[in-house]
Amino acid sequence: MPQRAYVIDKLISAKSIAARIETLSHEIEAEFAGTSKLVVVGLLRGSFIFIADLVRELDLPVEVDFVETSSYGNAMESSREVRILKDLRGDIEGRDVLVVEDIVDTGHTLAHVLHLLNSRRPARLRTIALLDKPSRRETDISADWIGFEIPDEFVVGYGIDYAQRNRNLPYIGTVRFIDPA
Ligand code: PRP
Ligand code: MN
Ligand code: MG
Repeated sequence: MPQRAYVIDKLISAKSIAARIETLSHEIEAEFAGTSKLVVVGLLRGSFIFIADLVRELDLPVEVDFVETSSYGNAMESSREVRILKDLRGDIEGRDVLVVEDIVDTGHTLAHVLHLLNSRRPARLRTIALLDKPSRRETDISADWIGFEIPDEFVVGYGIDYAQRNRNLPYIGTVRFIDPA
């Protein structure tokens, strides 16, 4: 599929993201106060910037692990088939776990990962998503903490890609096509 021409309009600034993460980190600290070690699990690749900023705000004993999933590939539509490309390194049985996702769209990715991790009997399994697009949901999943609810627009930046590009933008933007479809 040839790349279409597009521009990116800023939706959420880097400053707003940082402020929201600081607020959320206090809620997470309250939830997990007294934990011996929280396993923070990032879903690659989209969450790599969010998890990096989030764990640096968390005043808790933290271990970091990753699961790599893929659903969208280079497409703009969810394949609804979530593949686990890389599993956790560590054992989470009896542990407190926080899954970190960049965006919940249809919800298939998060639902699939939660089902998998739950089967390993963690003590507590919670989820945080920077962005939530509830209008697109196809599952009854929702994250315990959400950074921002957004409209049904294709977003990029702060870890999120369009055809693997734009993950390095420090803000969240929406993709606007400027050529005739
Ligand atoms: C994107 C995004 C979420 C997921 C959300 O990942 O990062 O993980 O899709 O969509 P859903 O709620 O409809 O499942 P993608 O599959 O593009 O992989 P990536 O994180 O490596 O970009
Ligand atoms: Mn992802
Ligand atoms: Mg992607």
